[in-house]
Amino acid sequence: MRKKFVAGNWKMFTTAASAEKLAQDVVRGLGSESRVQVAVCPPFPYLSRVGQALKGSGVGLGAQNLYPEKEGAFTGEVSPTMLVDVGCRHVILGHSERRHKLGESDGFINRKVHAALAAGLDVILCVGETLEEREADQTEKVLDAQVAGSLKDIRGDALARIVVAYEPVWAIGTGKNASPEQAQQAHAYVRQRIAQQCGADAAQKLIIQYGGSVKPDNASSLLRQPDVDGALVGGASLKADDFLAIVRAGM
Ligand code: PGA
Repeated sequence: MRKKFVAGNWKMFTTAASAEKLAQDVVRGLGSESRVQVAVCPPFPYLSRVGQALKGSGVGLGAQNLYPEKEGAFTGEVSPTMLVDVGCRHVILGHSERRHKLGESDGFINRKVHAALAAGLDVILCVGETLEEREADQTEKVLDAQVAGSLKDIRGDALARIVVAYEPVWAIGTGKNASPEQAQQAHAYVRQRIAQQCGADAAQKLIIQYGGSVKPDNASSLLRQPDVDGALVGGASLKADDFLAIVRAGM
């Protein structure tokens, strides 16, 4: 049995004060509940502060990106070791907003995956097709390319520290979620694709989150699918009550 994992992607939202309060509310709302693994991913400037608010709780701290070098003359970038230094356990990589708005390639994302693992971070790797690609029947082809490229040279043992988030781009921030059947189909495909690449045993253990307009009212039907092992939540993770309701849907 794979334990469900729900992570909040706060994107470029919150202030120092609201981030701290949101983290405190999530911690308080969860109490000693541990049936679902939970993490929150605030913007870089608030990582330390949110980390303090999470101390002593089971909620993990995650970042939304990194630069794949230990240190150096990379103005404006943040290294994996810096993230570990401020208490991060997770990092989101390959998010569609970075792939499509900032032009990140699978090759670059693959470098980030290796750099994150080398520093001791667990990775949440996002994959997913655009609406155009889905309508052109290219979903599987796109997932093939993203899995092969982003997870190049990742073997079974390293896969244990990776979570894949299937996030159809057309469902992100649009209020239009994939149907439970569409999500299940894509998740099963990704798992089988990863089994070919990294081994069947590791693929069976792999957590695959669904992301894209997950809300309290659609979470349980999505999380009930056999290959949907959790959720990566954007908009709804900015309200503690909504985020907690989604976590509870995974119990
Ligand atoms: P959303 O975002 O829940 O607001 O659609 C999900 C994500 O981008 O991770």
